[in-house]
Amino acid sequence: MLIALLPGDGIGPEVVAEAVRVLEHVAPDLRYEQAPVGGAAYKATGHPLPPETLALAKRADAILFGAVGDPACDALDRHLRPEQAILGLRKELGLFANLRPATLFPELADASALRPEIARSIDMVIVRELTGDVYFGQPRGRRTTDTGRREGFDMMRYDEDEVARIATIAFETARGRKRRLCSVDKANVLETSQLWRDVVIEVGARYPDVALEHMYVDNAAMQLVRAPGHFDVIVTGNLFGDILSDQASMCAGSIGMLPSAALGAGGPGLYEPIHGSAPDIAGQGKANPLATILSAAMLLRHSLGRAAEADRIEAAVAAALAGGARSADLGGSHSTREIGDRVLAALA
Ligand code: NAI
Ligand code: MG
Repeated sequence: MLIALLPGDGIGPEVVAEAVRVLEHVAPDLRYEQAPVGGAAYKATGHPLPPETLALAKRADAILFGAVGDPACDALDRHLRPEQAILGLRKELGLFANLRPATLFPELADASALRPEIARSIDMVIVRELTGDVYFGQPRGRRTTDTGRREGFDMMRYDEDEVARIATIAFETARGRKRRLCSVDKANVLETSQLWRDVVIEVGARYPDVALEHMYVDNAAMQLVRAPGHFDVIVTGNLFGDILSDQASMCAGSIGMLPSAALGAGGPGLYEPIHGSAPDIAGQGKANPLATILSAAMLLRHSLGRAAEADRIEAAVAAALAGGARSADLGGSHSTREIGDRVLAALA
C-alpha cells in the first residue's frame, strides 16, 4: 500500500512527520512517497500543484496532507497561490465527501467553547458534500440591472446523483457508529432541499437499520450548541456543512485536535488536519500534531480498511492526553516531537 505524503507549508511538515512515525509503528508494511505541494511546490517548480505531485496523489492508495499557505505567496496571482493546491486535488480526485469527526476527549472538556458537562457529550461525524451546491452552481455572477443597481447572484443546485452518493457515504458511516443519521436541509423554503430530502429518504430505504431524521439547518445550528450529544452522524450540503462543521469543531476544543477525510468515488482518499499552515508558530516545534495523527487513523480506517489499527492510534492519543500530554494550544508546553513521543509510548 502506497501512501502519498504531501506535507506542504508552515507547520504541515512538522505535524506530518509525527503522524508518519505513528503510522510506521502501527502499520510497518506501508510505503511512502513524498512530493511538494503549496508554497513549497511553487518555490521549487513555479506551480502549487505540480504534475508530478498530482500524478503521485492519483497513483497512491491514500494521501496524507499537511497544510498549504505561505504569507510569502500572498501577492501571487490567485491560481498560483498555495491554497489552489488543495482545491485542485479535491477537484482532480473527485473528492466529493468531507468527513469531519468532532469528538471531545474527556480530558479536554475545559478547552471547549461549551460548558464542560455539555461538551463531554459530543461524539459526532459531519458528512459534508464538497463539490456541489451554491459554491459551484451556474449561473453565477455580478451585473447591473436595468434600473442601474448592482446585483450579485449564485445558483444553489444539486442533482439526484450528487445527493445519492453523499447520502450513501453518510448511511455507511452511520452503520459503523450508533446507526443514527440526521440529514440537515432547509426544505421548508428551498427546492434544492426538497430534492435533497426526497433522495436521502430513497437511499435510506436500503438502510432500514439506520434511524433517519431530518432537521432544518437553523434548528441544527441551535441544537449543536444546546444538545450536541443528540447527534451521531450529520449529512448536509456544501454551504450548510461548511458552517456547521466549523461550529462543531469549536465545540470540541482546539483546532489542533480535529482530523478530516475527503473521499471520492473509488479513488484515493485525502486525509488532513482541519487547521492551516499556522505561519505564526511554524518552525518553532509548538504545533499540536494530534489532528494529523488522528487523520492518519482515519486513513487506515476509511481507505485501507484497517479499523483495528485506527482504533489503536485513537486509544493511544486518548492515553497520551490522559497522561498529561499538552501542547501550547491546550495550555501546556510540550513540543510537537514530545507529543509524538507520548503517543508512541502509549502504543508500545
Ligand atoms: P490556521 O489554522 O493555520 O491557524 C489559526 C490559528 O490556530 C493560529 O493561531 C495557529 O497558530 C493555530 N493553530 C493551527 N493549527 C495548530 C496546531 N496544529 N497546533 C497549535 N496551534 C495551531 O489558520 P489561518 O491562520 O487562518 O491560516 C494560515 C494559512 O493556512 C493561510 O495561508 C490559509 O489559507 C491556510 N489554510 C490552509 C488550509 C489547508 O491547507 N487545508 C486550511 C486552512 C487554512
Ligand atoms: Mg470553512
